[in-house]
Amino acid sequence: MAKLRIAVFISGRGTNLQSLIDASTEDSYPAEIALVLSNVAGAFGLRRAENAGIPTVVVDHRDYEGRESFEDVLQEKVAGAKAELVCLAGFMRLLTDNFVNRWRERLINIHPSLLPSFKGIHVHDRVIEHGARFSGCTVHYVRPAMDDGPIIAQACVPVHSDDDGDALAARVLSQEHRIYPLVVRLIAEGRVRVVNERVLIDGAETPDGALLNPGG
Ligand code: GRF
Repeated sequence: MAKLRIAVFISGRGTNLQSLIDASTEDSYPAEIALVLSNVAGAFGLRRAENAGIPTVVVDHRDYEGRESFEDVLQEKVAGAKAELVCLAGFMRLLTDNFVNRWRERLINIHPSLLPSFKGIHVHDRVIEHGARFSGCTVHYVRPAMDDGPIIAQACVPVHSDDDGDALAARVLSQEHRIYPLVVRLIAEGRVRVVNERVLIDGAETPDGALLNPGG
């Protein structure tokens, strides 16, 4: 079967991109990365893509008058690569309603919290300040509001009492690297549907039981 062609949008180091690159090197993985697009010329993720032989392009938002003309170029690049799904992976630009609606159900994002809690930036410090016992990460379909949209998958990690933001970020990030390739696979297998703004996944298993933190 033909593999799902994905475009990955980045702005930085690209560890989530790397997890998708690693997954897609498996013959049996049902998606392939057709394009890596960065709005930042020096983003380390571009090097990861080049090392893997994946086409890259830089579209620097500062070269455009407004969001629309910037996004016209994004659209042109993604269409040119014949991408069917756009994966935001640390892409630090807000997209307009126009772009988001055009890619509805074909545009996903990863966020380092258990949405809808802790949207936005400086997530891990805020989680620790609130004394939350768990945090995690979410992959979701993108809607016009920031970090909003139907949740496809989440992974949960404990917050340790001596965590600083960096320690928690690292624990969450290792789970990001598991769920992003998982979600792309599920979508590529045609198992993910949005019904009334909730995601249903064919044949997915849901864990039983509860986690406690602090444990007994
Ligand atoms: C990740 O924490 C992701 O959840 C957030 O931005 C960060 C990107 O990291 N949206 P990387 O560039 O994938 O390493």
